[in-house]
Amino acid sequence: MSDSAQTVVTVTLNPAIDQTASIPNFTAGAVNRVESASTEPGGKGVNVASFLADLGHASLATGLLGSDNAEPFQTLFERKGIADRFVRVPGATRVNVKIVDPARDEVTDVNFPGLDAGQAVYEELLTRIEALSHEHRWFVCAGSVPRGLPAGVYRELLEQLRGADARIVLDTSGAPLREAIAAAPFAIKPNIEELQELVGRTLDGEAAILGAARDLLAQGVGCVVVSMGERGAYFVEPGDCLHAQARAPRVLSTVGAGDAMVAGWVAGRLRGLDPQGCARLATACSVGTLGQPGLKLPPQQELERIGEGVAVRAVA
Ligand SMILES: Nc1ncnc2c1ncn2[C@@H]1O[C@H](COP(=O)(O)OP(=O)(O)OP(=O)(O)O)[C@@H](O)[C@H]1O
Ligand SMILES: [Mg+2]
Repeated sequence: MSDSAQTVVTVTLNPAIDQTASIPNFTAGAVNRVESASTEPGGKGVNVASFLADLGHASLATGLLGSDNAEPFQTLFERKGIADRFVRVPGATRVNVKIVDPARDEVTDVNFPGLDAGQAVYEELLTRIEALSHEHRWFVCAGSVPRGLPAGVYRELLEQLRGADARIVLDTSGAPLREAIAAAPFAIKPNIEELQELVGRTLDGEAAILGAARDLLAQGVGCVVVSMGERGAYFVEPGDCLHAQARAPRVLSTVGAGDAMVAGWVAGRLRGLDPQGCARLATACSVGTLGQPGLKLPPQQELERIGEGVAVRAVA
């Protein structure tokens, strides 16, 4: 298979810059001194591309990026060897400011509005992704949809790529997920809350969760991965139904566990692993990132060790 067929295209429509400032005894209405600060570019598709790079897989990141503050993303892409094919949009990518107060153990969030994508941007995005589908096969579309784009944007993308030999993995929620189901994505990875919202009912216990996943297979979804935090995840596809779980050795940050799971699952498929192998690698990546500061996977050896500790069982 050619290199470009192995390169994963990640689509992030609504990226964000996370700015964290540590301020002991933060006080509203006063001058506050920042003790330490960090700026992290993120967004679910960007995170998946970053985890794929850690796994040694090539990726290409597209989506919408504000031209006013693209630098942190460009730095990340250069550092990780991720090809940057984002459509630049006038204005700034949304910034989420987190004020961490270590003295009172409190976090204050200040979320700036994001881009407002208009029709011209939408059309440019569709054209860009269509062009990428001539050379690439694997697409991961992840995250929410910004203002100005229709909730059916993922469905539209799926329909647009239907003629191509594309494999589209979708990790989103709410209306964009519901609409996209009709266009039969290759795989989806809702967490349990997102799955309950999608099917409109509470899913108590294994039988109810598997029933909901199988209904989605009947509607044409290729594989349903249902993640449940510390309770592990189900991997359901025609002919295979697995549960995988591992104990987290330590939890430094739960941010991006779902994105690491998506990256690990796609990497497993690219490596030609069987469903058990994909579930094991996906789980190892998700658990591995919990023990790392920020959006990182542990070193290869540690990842393998975590993988050996993943309990994978077939479920009826
Ligand atoms: N506390 C934990 N202990 C063990 N494994 C965990 C824990 N939290 C997350 N995981 C692993 O990470 C996977 C994904 O976590 P989760 O279900 O929270 O994803 P998510 O809600 O999609 O997260 P994200 O915020 O990244 O979108 C789980 O299926 C599990 O394998
Ligand atoms: Mg998620």
